[in-house]
Amino acid sequence: MAISADHIRTLHKYEIRVLVAIERLMKRHQWVPLDILVKAVGLSESEVNYRIGRLMERGMVRFDTVPYEGYSLIFSGYDTLALLSLTRKGTVQALGCPIGEGKEAIVYEALGLGQLALKFHHIGQRSFQSVRVTREYMPDKGHCPWIFASRYSAEREYEALKKLHTSVSVPLPVDINRHVVVMEFIPGLPLHRCRPDEPEAVMNDILENAANAYRKGIIHSDLSEYNVMLDSEGTVYLIDWPQWIEVDHPNADEILRRDIENITRYFGRKFNIHMPLEEALQKVRE
Ligand SMILES: Nc1ncnc2c1ncn2[C@@H]1O[C@H](COP(=O)(O)OP(=O)(O)OP(=O)(O)O)[C@@H](O)[C@H]1O
Ligand SMILES: [Mg+2]
Repeated sequence: MAISADHIRTLHKYEIRVLVAIERLMKRHQWVPLDILVKAVGLSESEVNYRIGRLMERGMVRFDTVPYEGYSLIFSGYDTLALLSLTRKGTVQALGCPIGEGKEAIVYEALGLGQLALKFHHIGQRSFQSVRVTREYMPDKGHCPWIFASRYSAEREYEALKKLHTSVSVPLPVDINRHVVVMEFIPGLPLHRCRPDEPEAVMNDILENAANAYRKGIIHSDLSEYNVMLDSEGTVYLIDWPQWIEVDHPNADEILRRDIENITRYFGRKFNIHMPLEEALQKVRE
């Protein structure tokens, strides 16, 4: 379920208390039994039951009977907790509309000190197992793999943006809470939806930014026309960094080659600009 500011504004303080308690108890229990929750929240059992009912109606909490009866957060509840923290801190003042949705994240527009983009990392929403196979950096940890993996993915992305923003054109990192990265909003479109006037200059800018990232010791690892944005002035931004690797990773050569080939192939196919892969790679590595 998509989150909205209204959804969150209409939460009762007891409902927030219940959400916070479930989150904390999920460190020890995959499913939080009602009696433990009641004790932790410090309200009557009937009050807790009523509040949980309302949270379940909003798709924030789920109840299961197998392997035993208990409650757990689902993404919308976790999103709400992160957004509440960011709002209380003053990072976010208003949540806007969703602006992008991929396999493992949903991005919203928001307002804070300026126009922001909030990226909610949702790893393992459908099947945690398949994600673990495809994203090799994922450590195997904790009772609740989707919470751990989503947080980890956000932390990785934030770390890359922090390391890179002074020398690579990436969205400026603003804040992070749980599995949510707050960054500068880029007023533009993904490259695959653009028709730039000077495609060759755009390709060279992308390669130059990849080269600057490489000099900082970082390879994107999922570089393509989907993860490059272009604003109305033709400025290039490299986005979507959670899967970055270091340049001394054992598969660095192969991964860099794949990244750069995605770019040269795209410009060849779409704009008839043909740069040999070896030449492009040399530009990035030099
Ligand atoms: N800082 C930003 N400013 C404006 N729009 C953004 C920003 N970051 C992301 N977007 C929009 O959201 C879309 C998805 O973002 P991103 O590529 O980071 O995540 P994703 O592809 O969903 O992630 P994953 O690779 O995990 O599936 C982008 O194509 C873009 O349209
Ligand atoms: Mg992407």
